Amino acid sequence: MSTPRIETLARKHRALLRGFRNQEASLEEYLPRFALRHAEKDLLSRTYVALTQEGGVDRIAGYFSLATVSVERASVEEIPALSKLPKFPIPGVLLARLAVDTRVQGQGLGRHLFEEALGFTLSLATSGPVAFRLFVTDAVSEDAVRFYERFGLSRLSKALPARMVLDLEPLLG
Ligand SMILES: CC(C)(COP(=O)(O)OP(=O)(O)OC[C@H]1O[C@@H](n2cnc3c(N)ncnc32)[C@H](O)[C@@H]1OP(=O)(O)O)[C@@H](O)C(=O)NCCC(=O)NCCS
Repeated sequence: MSTPRIETLARKHRALLRGFRNQEASLEEYLPRFALRHAEKDLLSRTYVALTQEGGVDRIAGYFSLATVSVERASVEEIPALSKLPKFPIPGVLLARLAVDTRVQGQGLGRHLFEEALGFTLSLATSGPVAFRLFVTDAVSEDAVRFYERFGLSRLSKALPARMVLDLEPLLG
């Protein structure tokens, strides 16, 4: 796989959206069916695609989507640093989707995309005009839970999809 370049999803990528493959049907269908509409019309989430070149042709090797979220204060009672916060909903950035094409999984792209999404979030938390405390995702499977646990996210529910959170405060210095 060539080194991927990450771009904000836009209409120019439209022809590539149907070529993406993932074992989670909802994550495969999201790109051609909803991603552009959610980003440009409904304003629900913004998607970033990782493009690789194959025989001079661009292909979407992976993507992630970001939105905002509010996490119920009672759901983080088990996490000591968060359990001290006032009893209001806790604001955060939601990693609404993350997926790597099945043909290039296991080569480090998932980690790269996760770090990119967290990097965007940390720069917004550091120098953006808003404050928020959490990086949040909803893991679709037990495999996904294990993937996110590697990056320090804590699981809040036994059921799937499982909400998972990362406290950003220690990362903001
Ligand atoms: C989860 C997913 C994004 C990982 O992408 P990937 O490119 O295969 O992952 P990477 O090669 O970057 O692996 C990153 C790390 O996670 C680990 N990992 C990857 N898949 C894993 C899994 N299913 N369970 C546990 N660990 C996993 C790797 O061993 C690697 O660890 P290391 O860096 O310490 O060696 C991809 O498998 C996928 O699209 N899965 C289906 C959709 C999904 O579950 N999305 C996330 C939840 S919504």
